[in-house]
Amino acid sequence: MADYWIAPSILSANFACLGAEVDAVLEAGADIVHFDVMDNHYVPNLTIGPMVCKALRKHGVKAPIDVHLMVSPVDRMIADFAEAGASIITFHPDATIHVDRSLQMIRDAGCKAGLVLNPAVGPDVLKYVMDKLDMILLMSVNPGFGGQSFIPSTLDKIKEVRALIDASGRDIRLEVDGGISAKNIAEVAAAGADTFVAGSAIFNGGDYSETIEKMRNELAG
Ligand code: DX5
Ligand code: ZN
Repeated sequence: MADYWIAPSILSANFACLGAEVDAVLEAGADIVHFDVMDNHYVPNLTIGPMVCKALRKHGVKAPIDVHLMVSPVDRMIADFAEAGASIITFHPDATIHVDRSLQMIRDAGCKAGLVLNPAVGPDVLKYVMDKLDMILLMSVNPGFGGQSFIPSTLDKIKEVRALIDASGRDIRLEVDGGISAKNIAEVAAAGADTFVAGSAIFNGGDYSETIEKMRNELAG
């Protein structure tokens, strides 16, 4: 079986007790923490920044923190998040002017780097930067909010990007974000994804262990 990662999006967690929420999902079997950063500019919502990432590390979170930047400009956030303990930093190519430079800045800061493609954005931008990517994140909803429905055309894009990754022979994670639950995770994996962001399905779904176990059972087939 592929090395699947389940990445709860803390956007749907109870922010009044975020440290305990993150501990609980990791205890329940999550692999990484998906950290959604929104600036009310690139997307119409406002969330959390480097101080919160740093606070989670100080709280004792050891798991990889997967920072999904939905901000523009991108570059001035990179050093702050690296310093705050981010493990992976991904950004949207249409949120920065020099995509190659922003990717390089992330790696130079000691983090893994990735690009995020919105539902209507094709994979062309990936071609000349494959050697600078550790992760590709495909949005299966329009970014900005949790709890939206999975956009079915994402499945074709997952297949297309999976083929690109395999042809490159590189070790690049393929993550999908938005509208994922135990109901559709198997289909998303079958299309070629290996990393699954789930916010509302985990945090609004009752027992975290049960939900994550259900997802793993679906992945195991
Ligand atoms: C949307 C965020 C997602 C979102 C996923 O902009 O990037 O991570 O919180 O939430 P669900 O799983 O509820 O669709
Ligand atoms: Zn996200």
